Amino acid sequence: MERAVLDEAGRNLLFRAARTHSAWLDRPVEEAKLVELYELLKWGPTSANGLPLRVLFLISRAAKERLRPALSPGNVAKTMAAPVTAILAYDTRFFEFLPKTFPHEPEAVSWFSGPGKENAALETAFRNCSLQGGYFILAARAVGLDCGPMSGFDRDRVDAEFFPDGRLRSNFLCNLGYGDPTRLPPRNPRLSFEEACRIL
Ligand SMILES: Cc1cc2nc3c(=O)[nH]c(=O)nc-3n(C[C@H](O)[C@H](O)[C@H](O)COP(=O)(O)O)c2cc1C
Repeated sequence: MERAVLDEAGRNLLFRAARTHSAWLDRPVEEAKLVELYELLKWGPTSANGLPLRVLFLISRAAKERLRPALSPGNVAKTMAAPVTAILAYDTRFFEFLPKTFPHEPEAVSWFSGPGKENAALETAFRNCSLQGGYFILAARAVGLDCGPMSGFDRDRVDAEFFPDGRLRSNFLCNLGYGDPTRLPPRNPRLSFEEACRIL
């Protein structure tokens, strides 16, 4: 039997027609939309089903103002104007949930906790949080939102402000909303298959 594939409209929605946005329409994002986004992205795969991503959605003016001083100058205006700014962070103790999320392997917690395991835990958390960040962007597009991801910010400052107990660490930010299609710069080219890939 033929495998199901995403049709051209779906591929355009997720990849070809989707752009990174910095200018936003004056239209709020309902909280239900954020739940819909998370309920989709959570199915993307992570090592040992470890799911290290934690998301803090900033919507209120007060919350945005707490973020402002940590932003690179070029990211301030678009972030303050965005309906939602998500802080995508990883839980450095994600492995505490493995008895729930990877129950058939009772040893899994010991792969990441205990003496000498801190690097393994942090590397795994960062790698899989970044993967989940990619799922986040695609899930946002799938539910009809536009994204503006950003790494231009002071991570230590964000962590001190929003995650003072040190358990969560920020990875990147993502503005969310309905982008203004009339205020997009020209799109930059991508590398070709030949430039980026090899087959052995
Ligand atoms: C992880 C990540 C960090 C980024 N950081 C910034 C940033 O700090 N400021 C900014 O203006 N754009 C930032 N961008 C936006 C990229 O430059 C943009 O996604 C890329 O050029 C592709 O644009 P397109 O989706 O419109 O083709 C970031 C994108 C990603 C995925």
